[in-house]
Amino acid sequence: MIANGEANTGAGSTIAPGRNQRSQKPLVQTLKSLPSRIRLVHVVVAIGVASVFIAYVSVAPPTDLPNWPLYRLNSRVWQTFEHWGQHVKPHHVRIITMALQHIESRALYILSYFEIPDIINKAGEPLSCHEIKSRVDKKFGSEPVNLPFLCRVLHAAAHFDLLREAGEDKYSLTPLSEYLVSSHPRSLKEFVKLYSGDEALIVSTALSRSMFSGLSGFKETFREELAEYLPKDEQLREIFSLGLTDFSRLHAPAIIADYPSFSSCHHICDIGGGVGSFIYDLLNYYSFDIKGTNFDLPHVIDTGRSFMAKRGASNKIALVPGNFTEKLPKFGCDCYIMKDILQNWSDEDAALILRNLHSVMDSGHRLLLIETIMHIGSYSEERLKSLLDLTMMSFHPSHSRLRTEEELFFLLQQSGYSDPQTYPTRASYSIIETFPIPS
Ligand SMILES: C[S@@+](CC[C@H](N)C(=O)[O-])C[C@H]1O[C@@H](n2cnc3c(N)ncnc32)[C@H](O)[C@@H]1O
Ligand SMILES: *[C@@H]1O[C@H](CO)[C@@H](O)[C@H](O)[C@H]1NC(C)=O
Ligand SMILES: *[C@@H]1O[C@H](CO)[C@@H](O)[C@H](O)[C@H]1NC(C)=O
Repeated sequence: MIANGEANTGAGSTIAPGRNQRSQKPLVQTLKSLPSRIRLVHVVVAIGVASVFIAYVSVAPPTDLPNWPLYRLNSRVWQTFEHWGQHVKPHHVRIITMALQHIESRALYILSYFEIPDIINKAGEPLSCHEIKSRVDKKFGSEPVNLPFLCRVLHAAAHFDLLREAGEDKYSLTPLSEYLVSSHPRSLKEFVKLYSGDEALIVSTALSRSMFSGLSGFKETFREELAEYLPKDEQLREIFSLGLTDFSRLHAPAIIADYPSFSSCHHICDIGGGVGSFIYDLLNYYSFDIKGTNFDLPHVIDTGRSFMAKRGASNKIALVPGNFTEKLPKFGCDCYIMKDILQNWSDEDAALILRNLHSVMDSGHRLLLIETIMHIGSYSEERLKSLLDLTMMSFHPSHSRLRTEEELFFLLQQSGYSDPQTYPTRASYSIIETFPIPS
């Protein structure tokens, strides 16, 4: 094909000279300068495959998981590009961007807080800054927003890929801001309101003091830990609960689909399962013929009752109140889940919880720890986990942290469990399956 192109540029060519000739020459030269084993056909095939792949990934409905090979390929591709991209960026630009990152996070927050993606989505057409202002004012009533400031934020958001400039002073949504629309099945609006919200920012600024005291940013700011403070502040409690719900809803499908043996369970207990959304989604996906029990603190279980009632699942999932740092009741489950639990406890407390559970398990029963595990991912995943880990440092007492696989295996071994095996998921979580050693 390269040879053909060359021939066409020759004197005897019947193809009109001029533009054609000029545009072909650099391409021919570029291709000639490539190593001889790379042919135009390879380049074309690669571009074709990449386009089909990108098209597939971008049109796949948001709740559908890409299949494993595609997921792996996709992660590999974007992580490699991100890695290379970081390294070709001038170092000073990277530093300046990092230093100003919290401003980008604020713009994200302002969009979510004022529900601007919802407003644009509801309008069904691009809106001007002025139109957005009048709808925000109507929604928030009390005090009108400042028009020039709002316009500057919208303009900046367009450069952060959060909005698209559609014609003169008109904004539409982008694939990113679709995730900030409340009705999106995997909406992250409330997650954003929690983690780029005022409280998160305030407690993170206290981290410079934490570096001396070893106390959480939260304790530095509010003089008590989050767990003591939350029961007294209904508004913050709501922000937390909604924000964390977004996060677990986002990851639940991958966790549910990627552990291969849920269907061999007869009765699944979710220990510290919150209001019960995970066990509900799990049984909803597999079958309500599998029995389900949700266990948590009494006040959480109370909220869980209305959660189950709303979904017509009150008599499908048993709700058991209690305290896992004390003696547990005989649940009669053969599979036990603990999702996002151990990260919140010191090694001693985590071992206590694991032993308490051990004492109600029989041999052949299994425990599934669903955790974000440090150091078993690639460059970008570890970057994200480090962000989560420092977020924990700002919100939670110092014993709360993400652990490595070795640390979790060691804890399990100390607490009477054997044969741990880690299953990856198409989310930032891994699942460790383990069995109690009869005592
Ligand atoms: C980080 S949340 C995880 C919730 C749920 N497993 C999930 O993944 O979404 C920790 C859960 O542990 C519960 N919890 C904390 N201390 C507890 C205790 N002593 N006994 C039982 N549950 C407890 C909390 O109420 C909360 O629902
Ligand atoms: C759970 O039990 C422990 C140990 O008895 C106790 O210190 C703690 O306050 C209890 N937690 C709750 C929320 O009741
Ligand atoms: C985290 O752990 C502390 C004790 O270490 C506990 O009081 C608190 O309720 C836990 N928080 C959550 C969200 O589970």
